[in-house]
Amino acid sequence: MGGVVTPPTRRKLPDGRTVVVRSAVPDDAAAWIRNFNEIAKERIYVMTESFSRTVEEIRDQFRDSDPNSALWLVAEVDGRAIGGATFLRGRWTKNAHTADLGVSLLAEFRGLRIGDDLMREGIEWARRVGVRKLKLGVFASNERAVRLYRRLGFVEEGRLRGEVMLDGRSDDELLMALWL
Ligand SMILES: CC(C)(COP(=O)(O)OP(=O)(O)OC[C@H]1O[C@@H](n2cnc3c(N)ncnc32)[C@H](O)[C@@H]1OP(=O)(O)O)[C@@H](O)C(=O)NCCC(=O)NCCS
Repeated sequence: MGGVVTPPTRRKLPDGRTVVVRSAVPDDAAAWIRNFNEIAKERIYVMTESFSRTVEEIRDQFRDSDPNSALWLVAEVDGRAIGGATFLRGRWTKNAHTADLGVSLLAEFRGLRIGDDLMREGIEWARRVGVRKLKLGVFASNERAVRLYRRLGFVEEGRLRGEVMLDGRSDDELLMALWL
């Protein structure tokens, strides 16, 4: 299994650099974990506080996963992996028409619409493999993320009140979904 399921896309950023969005390959594993941990350290955007899996496990995952069930995307700027997105389809017959997603970028690469590039690739993949509903959880204070999802057509399906404590401050978690 494995293999490239999504052809790479390229876009010029306003400062002349190029952003490439492509499927993750085994050699991305170390940077993937490093970037994830960097973002987790900020403490206010993602639930997970540290990555519990090894580079080898992530390598295997990128190599062996079924391209109809999962998509891992990497965003690269000038050849450096600076963020990514995960789309994981429901594993049961009951929920195989849905997929959960997560997206994140290193701080210095935010606000450049790279989140949008990643999301659009993921949405195309979802359509291609027959996923009908994309869903995610986002902290209500994460304005940039909420704006991105709303712009793409995601709507709020639920609000878990006081679900998280972000640096001592209570926040809600929004459950958002996009029907395709
Ligand atoms: C959330 C994230 C993926 C969005 O990607 P991005 O490329 O930075 O987003 P965009 O540049 O497309 O901006 C999204 C929206 O936020 C707005 N925005 C940009 N910077 C902002 C800021 N500092 N504060 C509030 N809104 C901001 C943009 O104008 C845009 O709004 P619009 O669609 O109405 O024009 C990215 O910022 C990120 O990785 N954040 C940290 C990790 C995270 O929060 N992941 C999501 C967890 S659910």
